[in-house]
Amino acid sequence: MRIPKEIINEIKNKAPIQDIIGNFIQVIKKGNNYVAYCPFHDDNNPSLHISVDKQIFKCFSCPPENKSSGDVFSFVMKHKHLSYIEAVKLVAEMIGYKYDFGDTEANKFEETITHKIMKEAVNYCQYELNSKEGLLYKEYLNKRNIDNKTIEKFQIGYNPKDDKLYLFLSKKGYKDNDIISANLARLTNNGVRDVFFNRIMIPISDVSGNPIGFTARSIDPKVETKYINSTDTPIFKKSNVVFNLHRAKEKIRETKFVILAEGPMDVIAFDKIGFQNTVCSMGTNTTKNQLLTIKRFTNKILLAFDGDNAGQSAILKTGKDCLQEGFDVLVLNNDTKFDPDEIINKYGAKRLSDMILKPKTWIEFVIEYYKLSYDLDNYTAKREYTFKVLEEIKKVKNDFDKQNYIDRLAGLTGFNVAQLASGVVDGETKKDTPRILKPKSSLQSGIEIAQKIILKQLLFSANNINIYKNKLGYLPNKQFDDIAKMIINFYDQNQYIKFGELLAEIDDSQLISLICEIESDKTHCENEDERLLLDSIDKVKEYEIEIELEKLEARMNNYSDDNMKTKVAAEIVEFQRKLNELRKNRR
Ligand code: CTP
Ligand code: MN
Repeated sequence: MRIPKEIINEIKNKAPIQDIIGNFIQVIKKGNNYVAYCPFHDDNNPSLHISVDKQIFKCFSCPPENKSSGDVFSFVMKHKHLSYIEAVKLVAEMIGYKYDFGDTEANKFEETITHKIMKEAVNYCQYELNSKEGLLYKEYLNKRNIDNKTIEKFQIGYNPKDDKLYLFLSKKGYKDNDIISANLARLTNNGVRDVFFNRIMIPISDVSGNPIGFTARSIDPKVETKYINSTDTPIFKKSNVVFNLHRAKEKIRETKFVILAEGPMDVIAFDKIGFQNTVCSMGTNTTKNQLLTIKRFTNKILLAFDGDNAGQSAILKTGKDCLQEGFDVLVLNNDTKFDPDEIINKYGAKRLSDMILKPKTWIEFVIEYYKLSYDLDNYTAKREYTFKVLEEIKKVKNDFDKQNYIDRLAGLTGFNVAQLASGVVDGETKKDTPRILKPKSSLQSGIEIAQKIILKQLLFSANNINIYKNKLGYLPNKQFDDIAKMIINFYDQNQYIKFGELLAEIDDSQLISLICEIESDKTHCENEDERLLLDSIDKVKEYEIEIELEKLEARMNNYSDDNMKTKVAAEIVEFQRKLNELRKNRR
C-alpha cells in the first residue's frame, strides 16, 4: 500500500528533522545546524550532522558499509528498525498529523475475540459500578476525590461477586476458553470463576485505546493484595504496556514531556489537576520496552514516584535506565514521604503542581539521594559518595551544566573534585578537536566515484541532466542507475530538482541513504561542473568498454574455431579503437 506522495511531503514538511531526531537522541546546536552522538556506532565525538537546510542527517564516522545518512524517515527507520511505511506513520504520529493510512501494513489492526471480550467487560463493569451493588465502590472512589466525570473518563468500573462478569460474557455467547484466555475467569475445582471479583476495575488500553487488560483494586483493607493486574494474554503483555498512554499522548506531544508515576491512582490524580501528560507502568519496575514506547512521543521524562524509600530508590534505577535510553531526566521535587495522589489530598493541588513545575534535575536528585546512604562526616563514606555522584555527572553532555555540578559537589564535600573531574571534562571536550577521517577513496574504485560524481552533478541542473541523457543515459551500477532514473523522472515531472521532495519519492531506505551520501559528499565535487560531468561520463564509457574487452578476450581464449576467433578479434579491435579515442579526448 502506497501513501500518496503529497501526504509524505506534508508530513516531512511538518516534521523538522532536528526535532524528530531530537526526540530520539540528544542533539546539540552548532551554528545553524545540529550535531549528535551517532546512535549507529560507538561514537565518542558528535559525528552525526543534521542539516537544517537540507533536512538530512549524516554520520561522518560510520563505516561505509553501514551507511548512516538520509532524511527524517531514514533516521527513524534505522533507529527504530522500521519499514518505510512504518517510519512515515510513526513520524506522523509524533507530530500529531492526522491521516487515515487505511489498511497500510503498519496500521492493520485485527480485532481478536480477546479484544471483543475486553470491550464487553469494560462496558459491563461500568454498568455495574452504577448498580445498587456498586454503590459502595462508587462511594469509595468519590471519597478519594474521584468524581463521576473522572470515573467516566477512565472508564472505571466494578466487577461484582458471584461470577457475574463470567456469566454475563457467557450469556453473550463467548466461549469459556476465550473468557479464560482473556484472563477474566479461571477454571477452578468449583467450575469457571471470575478472576477479579469485588474489585474496582480500571481498564488498561493499548496505545490506540483498545482495552486489553485491567488493574483491579480491592477496597477492603483486610484483603491482602490491594491490586491485581491481568496476567499476560494474547493481547496483553504487562511488561510492554504503559497505562494511560493512549489518552496522554496528545498532551505529551504538546507539552514536550511525560510524567511517569507509579500507579493508576497517581495518574488519575495528575490528570485531575491538569497534567494529562501522565502515564504509569503499574508498580515501580518500568521496563526498557515501556520506556521505548514512551519515547515515541517525547524524550523528556519527569519521574514522579512515591516519596517513600521504595519510590526514591525506584527513581534512581528508572532514571539510570531512562538516561541509557537517551531521555532527559527530571525528578518530581517531592519533599514528602507521600505519593502524588496523597499529596493532593493532604496539601492540595498547588503543592503538587509546584513540585512538577520546579522539578529537580537528575544530578540534583542524585546528589540528594546518595546523601541518605552516605555519612558525609566520615572520610571513606564521603569519598565513596563523591565517586557515586561523579559517575552520574560524567553522563552530563552539556559542559556548562557539568562544570556547575562539579563545583557543587566540590562545595559539598570539600574535595578537590574539579581536578579529578577535569579528566572527565577534558576527556569529553576533546570532541571539538579535529578527527582523523577514515581514508575513503581507497575503498571506492574509480568507476564508483565517477558514477557518484555524475549523480551529484545531475542534482545541480537541467543542463547536466540533458547532457547525461544525451551522452550516457545509464549507469553500470544498478543502485546508481536507479537513482539516476529517479532524478530524471522527478525532473521530467516537475521541471525542477528539489532534493527534499525528491527524497520523499524514494521509499527504499538503502537508496535514500546512498543518495544523501552522494548529495553531501564534498570530496569529489562541491559545485556544478560541466567539464567534470563530461569527464566522468567518459570514464564510465571507458569502464564499460574495458569490461566488454575483458569478456571478449575471455571468449577468444575459449574458441578453438579460427573463424570465430577472427570475428571476436575484429570486435576487440573495434572496442579498442573506441577506447583509445575516449582516452585521447580525455587527455
Ligand atoms: N501494585 C500492585 N500490586 C500490589 C501493590 C501495588 O500491582 N499489591 C502496583 C499498583 O499498580 C500500584 C503501584 O504498584 O498502583 C504502587 O503501589 P502503591 O504505592 O502501594 O499503591 P498506590 O498507587 O498508592 O495505590 P492506592 O493509592 O490505590 O493505594
Ligand atoms: Mn496512593
